[in-house]
Amino acid sequence: MTAPDKQALACLSSIDVDLGQRSYRIEVGEGLLDSAGGVIKSRLVQPRVAVITDSNVEPLYRARLEKSLDQAGVDHQWIVLPAGERTKDFFHLRRLVDDLLFMRIERSTALVALGGGVIGDITGFAAAITLRGLDFIQIPTTLLAQVDSSVGGKTGINTTAGKNLVGAFHQPRLVLTDTQTLDTLAHRELLAGYAEVVKYGLLGDGAFFDWLEENGRVLVNGNSIAKNEARRHAIITCCRAKAAIVAADEREAGQRALLNLGHTFGHALEAQAGYGDALLHGEAVAIGMVMAFDLSARLGLCPAGQADRVRRHMADMGLPSHIKHLADSSWSADGLLAHMSLDKKVIGGKLNFVLVRGIGDAFITGEVEKSEVMALLKDALAG
Ligand code: NAD
Ligand code: GLY
Repeated sequence: MTAPDKQALACLSSIDVDLGQRSYRIEVGEGLLDSAGGVIKSRLVQPRVAVITDSNVEPLYRARLEKSLDQAGVDHQWIVLPAGERTKDFFHLRRLVDDLLFMRIERSTALVALGGGVIGDITGFAAAITLRGLDFIQIPTTLLAQVDSSVGGKTGINTTAGKNLVGAFHQPRLVLTDTQTLDTLAHRELLAGYAEVVKYGLLGDGAFFDWLEENGRVLVNGNSIAKNEARRHAIITCCRAKAAIVAADEREAGQRALLNLGHTFGHALEAQAGYGDALLHGEAVAIGMVMAFDLSARLGLCPAGQADRVRRHMADMGLPSHIKHLADSSWSADGLLAHMSLDKKVIGGKLNFVLVRGIGDAFITGEVEKSEVMALLKDALAG
């Protein structure tokens, strides 16, 4: 095993996701990519992996991971997919699975997802279905993937009917988070990931939201030492929260649905915007979370001041916080509601929402009348 350098070791933190035989570790540290080969090898049945990445990440991080895998004696083949949300579809899934099979991978060959949530989700799904199930390892390189999508085993693709509607629960064997990779991430992508960070404060940890109000700007824009420390603290806090939720409810029979705060609205916005650069997933979640607070306030469940505070934080950070930031004349309340009705969270034809009693106090309900949602959407579209 290659020795991690001293600096990486000094900053290394581990979080365990406790799922019995499917338990795994999340390692968080700066510069972890350089020692990834040895850690990966320790989880492999045979010293062979197929690394899946995208066209933006490959030129940035392939050489470092290759070197580390070579040093550890792990054989590696690479598949590079086009960057972007549109890659998470049947066409690219089929191509990916065909490429893996033509490489003559075996059941004991593991897949490694090097990239953001798109690469993690499609690679995890390919791992779940190829040869009836391969091991896979996540190396998340976006903030969104480091705090959310790489942990918990939700994998899948989008379809024309909606977001993430085809997929499988398939846990990774290991998550390796190198916080340094965030230094090359576009500011807009970092902010979109930040929305998922805020989610953890809003759904169950009011003190963390207070901390984000103080430190969010440092995390996104600060000088290197303070910025790194803030990122590290946020990533570890989010991963601990997610690990606990997933360990308690792996397949979303109950409380895991809290992680969908803002997503019922957010997925409808993404579908309406066409899954492209016009609206990133995290941006949709930012607006969706503000809408969940607005709906809660309209229903008298949460003080209106709390919704204002959430909107203000999103705006302070430079995130979109209102539908009017993206809607054009083709958008309608009926259209958005139709997208929401296709969401996975519909039970018996009823929309399921994550609503709030306040910051840090979210709950799940199927008791929201469609007329209330329509009224909110109409008012929001009217500006
Ligand atoms: P992404 O994977 O598209 O990455 C965003 C962009 O950043 C891409 O262009 C990518 O090439 C680029 N990039 C990635 N790492 C980089 C780096 N270090 N430096 C420079 N560029 C880099 O998007 P995302 O925001 O990471 O993930 C969004 C996806 O995650 C959505 O499809 C969403 O549905 C999914 N998601 C899944 C879960 C889950 O539990 N599985 C949870 C939340 C979100
Ligand atoms: N991102 C939602 C979940 O993992 O359940």
